[in-house]
Amino acid sequence: MPKVSAIIPAAGSGKRMGGGKSKQYLQLGGRPVIINTLALLQRSSLIDEIILVSPPVEIDLTRQLVDEAALTKVIRIVEGGKERQDSIRNGLNSLDYSTEIVVIHDGVRPFLKEEHLEATIEAAREYGAALLAVPVKDTVKEAGNSFVGRTVPRENLWLAQTPQVFSYEIIKEAYHYAEEKKVIGTDDSSLVEHIGREVRIVTGSYENIKITTPEDLIFAEALLKEKC
Ligand code: C5P
Repeated sequence: MPKVSAIIPAAGSGKRMGGGKSKQYLQLGGRPVIINTLALLQRSSLIDEIILVSPPVEIDLTRQLVDEAALTKVIRIVEGGKERQDSIRNGLNSLDYSTEIVVIHDGVRPFLKEEHLEATIEAAREYGAALLAVPVKDTVKEAGNSFVGRTVPRENLWLAQTPQVFSYEIIKEAYHYAEEKKVIGTDDSSLVEHIGREVRIVTGSYENIKITTPEDLIFAEALLKEKC
């Protein structure tokens, strides 16, 4: 049976959070952020299996958290790498050929809505590659130093989120090409763009935040309360 496999990168070191603890282990609604994210994929009938990417030194802790939360779809925990791209590569290398669709979703985005996951997977089935994104709301300035160089027209600007969803063949090819040509990207779509494939944009929501800095966590707690 062709499978939909989710790769969840959660191997970041949490440098931007300022504290010692990686952001994926911070508490949100009484449980670690990463468990909130995994729980929504565990609940979704669209996901067959989850490959979780963890910091190498936290594999035991991660395994313990996954077991305690009875996240049975997590079939494997693999070691992360130095950059996010290295972490995803390790996850991809652990997939088998029965994988049809690869869903890549940041472990620190616990507010993904099922309808958006579904729409992104559907778009990837149709176009081979798709990502969730939201239109830029603010005016964007380009600057080489502390003075404005120019104002960038925002009509065509999007903020890329995750999930980013691909056919197994396309994402494998993109990572292979990136490794060979030493391409580095801050998301997976950019690597697919490098091999000349079109990536379909699916409009998401501003709630699908990435918990990166301390104020994100305050906002996240507020969002969670509003949902209860
Ligand atoms: O660093 P960034 O904000 O892009 O992180 C997005 C996601 O990628 C986070 O869930 C983080 O844990 C993960 N990541 C990773 N391996 C790294 C860096 C980040 O799995 N080396």
